[in-house]
Amino acid sequence: MQYNIALLKGDGIGPEIVDSAVAVLERIGAKFGHDFRFTPYLIGGCAIDAVGMPLPQETVDGCLASDSVLLGAVGGPKWDHLSGEQRPEKALLGIRAALGLYTNLRPAKLFPALRGASPLRADLVSAGFDIMIVRELTGGIYFGDRGYRTGRYGEEAFDTEAYSVHEIERIGRAAFEIAMKRSRRLTSVDKANVLETSRLWRKTMHRLAEEYPEVAYQDLFVDNAAMQLVRNPQQFDVIVTSNMFGDILSDEASQLTGSIGMLASASLGETTRGMYEPIHGSAPDIAGQNKANPIATILSAAMMLRYAFGLTDEAKCIEDAVDAVLAAGFRTADLIGDSDAACCSCTEMTAEILKAIG
Ligand code: IPM
Ligand code: MG
Repeated sequence: MQYNIALLKGDGIGPEIVDSAVAVLERIGAKFGHDFRFTPYLIGGCAIDAVGMPLPQETVDGCLASDSVLLGAVGGPKWDHLSGEQRPEKALLGIRAALGLYTNLRPAKLFPALRGASPLRADLVSAGFDIMIVRELTGGIYFGDRGYRTGRYGEEAFDTEAYSVHEIERIGRAAFEIAMKRSRRLTSVDKANVLETSRLWRKTMHRLAEEYPEVAYQDLFVDNAAMQLVRNPQQFDVIVTSNMFGDILSDEASQLTGSIGMLASASLGETTRGMYEPIHGSAPDIAGQNKANPIATILSAAMMLRYAFGLTDEAKCIEDAVDAVLAAGFRTADLIGDSDAACCSCTEMTAEILKAIG
């Protein structure tokens, strides 16, 4: 079977980590008899440099014509002076919207070998944790009206958050369905004591909860959720939340797994295509130095196999290989804190994972 994958390598460490994931997919293809074809497209700062805009139409069209999309990261100091509309990050929001990817799955799972790399006390992570953060990805304050105006104290900037019942319902339903396939516990995170959007969010989630009586549902305010995550991450199974709260809580949760370099993500919509990317950024400080941790991108490729192509055994093969390599003590620089093992480069880590796949 042939699968056409659009590659959006982007900026900073993007090209290195996407190359690692491509090597892994090629190995999986050889092992299981699949033909993965890759077509690169420009996105972010590299697209600004090449064609003067962060999200060329050719990139959108190429993604729409592909079976799935693998993305590295965008942005860097070189483009920081640009206005909001021209920035590399705008392309990321643009491609998420263009592909209709409103459901963002960010699994924060502690690999047993990385218990010592978690900043939490050993007794808090002794049983591990496995949290699925379901982040709304195409609405909220990321996409609301924004701008500048003259206010009471002179010039001011504003951003607005809006959520429709429709948007809340579809992300809520996605989260309840995921909870049904896991341990049937769902936490919805909002700020309903302050925000009107959160009150509508909560009301809508409660209505959905009646349709899913098997799911143990709870609400948490976002400040409490941020605290509970570091107090006792094991209490959570599935967390559903808005675009911005999900952005913040997933970075927090990622660090509990040892490093932000570990967290994969799947962005899904109404088609099977989806887009797969690590949750971390382009890490310009280590770009081009072969120091990046490729695991988040490799695990994102595993999510692609599972969600876009239904290749469950192949996805599991990648996840088991990562598990085995970590258990054998291999660590990239971001993970080195807990291990005496020599620190490996991006390409060395990739080579170990390829070996473990066999
Ligand atoms: C993420 C990133 C992006 C986001 C940025 C780069 C726009 O932080 O994917 O979490 O905020 O969504
Ligand atoms: Mg983020």
